[in-house]
Amino acid sequence: MASLSTTFILLLVTVSASVSAALSASVIEDLKSLKPPHDFNTTILKNCQHNPSLRYCSSSPMDLDEIFKSTIVASHLCNESKNPNCVESFPKIDLQNDPKMAPLYLSFNFFWKYCPLSILAIDLSNNSLRSNFPVDVLQCTQIQALDMSHNNLFGDVPIDSFSPLTNLTLLNLSYNHFSESKISDIPFFKRFNSSSFLHSGLLPDGKKFRIKAVLLLVGFPIFVILMVCCLGWLCFRRPDFLPRMLRPKHRFTPAMLKAATNRFSKKNLMGKSESVDIYQGTLRDGADVRIEIYRGERHPTLIEECKILVQ
Ligand SMILES: *[C@@H]1O[C@H](CO)[C@@H](O)[C@H](O)[C@H]1NC(C)=O
Ligand SMILES: *[C@@H]1O[C@H](CO)[C@@H](O)[C@H](O)[C@H]1NC(C)=O
Ligand SMILES: *[C@@H]1O[C@H](CO)[C@@H](O)[C@H](O)[C@H]1NC(C)=O
Ligand SMILES: *[C@@H]1O[C@H](CO)[C@@H](O)[C@H](O)[C@H]1NC(C)=O
Ligand SMILES: *[C@@H]1O[C@H](CO)[C@@H](O)[C@H](O)[C@H]1NC(C)=O
Ligand SMILES: *[C@@H]1O[C@H](CO)[C@@H](O)[C@H](O)[C@H]1NC(C)=O
Repeated sequence: MASLSTTFILLLVTVSASVSAALSASVIEDLKSLKPPHDFNTTILKNCQHNPSLRYCSSSPMDLDEIFKSTIVASHLCNESKNPNCVESFPKIDLQNDPKMAPLYLSFNFFWKYCPLSILAIDLSNNSLRSNFPVDVLQCTQIQALDMSHNNLFGDVPIDSFSPLTNLTLLNLSYNHFSESKISDIPFFKRFNSSSFLHSGLLPDGKKFRIKAVLLLVGFPIFVILMVCCLGWLCFRRPDFLPRMLRPKHRFTPAMLKAATNRFSKKNLMGKSESVDIYQGTLRDGADVRIEIYRGERHPTLIEECKILVQ
């Protein structure tokens, strides 16, 4: 019994899914094949006499085909958004959590061109929209609320196209990937607080700044310590690698002599006796040197010899 009802529910789900697919297909089919009825021009004229503020009334020349197509889309969208009394009362476009239908309706740019004046709120949130900002939507200049949160919108926000939306009081661009621009510095957007731009890429990212500051605070001392260690090592072992200004004159370290003689190689050994080895070598600056290595307690004599040499 239980398994029977499960099958029944599954069947229902399948049927309703195919209905919604058929709906979107039929919208496109309708738009391709449908032509306005022959008296559509008089209908439009009457409408405009009745309500001159209708958006299509101010367009000239009137493209009857486009206006007709836009009314078809409006009626579908009004139903889709569960508005009461479609299409006369069409206050809200609700395409929240509708990633199949939202891109389809966004692609009807003639609809947005003649955006019905009754619409005051547009919700396109949570649709995984992966594109630049759908700027057509901003042709509904009368709207008071616009929710674009939880999508994958990227690129720049079309700041100039927002300025005609003088009645916009609710805006949500949170959770997108826009290019960083300090949007809160732009006069139009000053009316919205940061909760309109959470994780949108539009506000300077506090976390990123903190990471940079920490890296700098930790990294700089480490860099200084490394530099000091490096210089110290050079001073004590290889002063010949120091810049010329810092290089001490007449100071030779064992490491320098080892390098000058190819690690005291046999090739550089010129003479050898019981108490002294004599090497020939070349310092890093190109000077040829003679290096004598004494074994045992010969230092006093050496120092005297050196004194005489210097004199
Ligand atoms: C509407 O169009 C028809 C032809 O399609 C034309 O005969 C008629 O005069 C037009 N009406 C108006 C009010 O423009
Ligand atoms: C909208 O819904 C009404 C009733 O729910 C239906 O009669 C009408 O045909 C629908 N319109 C469109 C364009 O789907
Ligand atoms: C977004 O839509 C998904 C399903 O597509 C749903 O699970 C999730 O709860 C929605 N999130 C919001 C914030 O509405
Ligand atoms: C804003 O609302 C006022 C009052 O409802 C209206 O007169 C005005 O035309 C609206 N602005 C736009 C850009 O639609
Ligand atoms: C930001 O604005 C929204 C709607 O305008 C409001 O609900 C919210 O309390 C404000 N948040 C702050 C922190 O001011
Ligand atoms: C925008 O949407 C986010 C996420 O759903 C929410 O946290 C935030 O409060 C909303 N901001 C406004 C101004 O509605």
